[in-house]
Amino acid sequence: MEALRSFCDDEHLNLTNFKIFLFDSFEGLPEKKGIEDDNAKWSGGQFAHTIDEIKRVIRKHRMNPDSGNFRFVKGFYEQILTPDLRERLSQTPPDIVTMDADYYSSTKTVLEWLLPILPSGSLFYFDNIWDFDGSPNRGELKAISEFNKKGRGVLTPFEIVPTLPHQCYIYSPE
Ligand SMILES: C[S@@+](CC[C@H](N)C(=O)[O-])C[C@H]1O[C@@H](n2cnc3c(N)ncnc32)[C@H](O)[C@@H]1O
Repeated sequence: MEALRSFCDDEHLNLTNFKIFLFDSFEGLPEKKGIEDDNAKWSGGQFAHTIDEIKRVIRKHRMNPDSGNFRFVKGFYEQILTPDLRERLSQTPPDIVTMDADYYSSTKTVLEWLLPILPSGSLFYFDNIWDFDGSPNRGELKAISEFNKKGRGVLTPFEIVPTLPHQCYIYSPE
């Protein structure tokens, strides 16, 4: 949110023209689905924060979460990320996606769901890239690698912020 505010200030854009979608169970992490999710520091139910708690955080950043430019989408991705929801969101495809769902399985679900509406040049930030010490067989790195092997577009590391090594990617269609 601070990055978006700073970008809008620099480019003389109106912050309220941007739509911010927040997808979360708001009940914390689901149970791990396999070894690829299995970091010892995570467990089912962890990070459970209600929408009201998140709204308080947003207000601290001097934004109004009840204004029309925020939308909260509550539920587990495996249930809520339907083709119908994607169709409805296709009018406002994402420019920036921040992924912070920890697990391989959750990240894979989100990437597969987004793929049909991703514009070329959309920017991704992955918060959990280093949580498995760079293993290509676990977590977000595995989900990115499988996404790239599908042959329907690639996520390429994009070092836009030097202090976030390998956490930013840019999408381009194949
Ligand atoms: C480390 S927390 C980050 C939350 C938020 N981005 C933040 O910085 O406060 C990980 C979040 O991923 C969500 N999550 C992980 N897998 C999910 C899934 N399959 N469906 C819905 N939410 C999921 C959890 O509910 C949790 O809030």
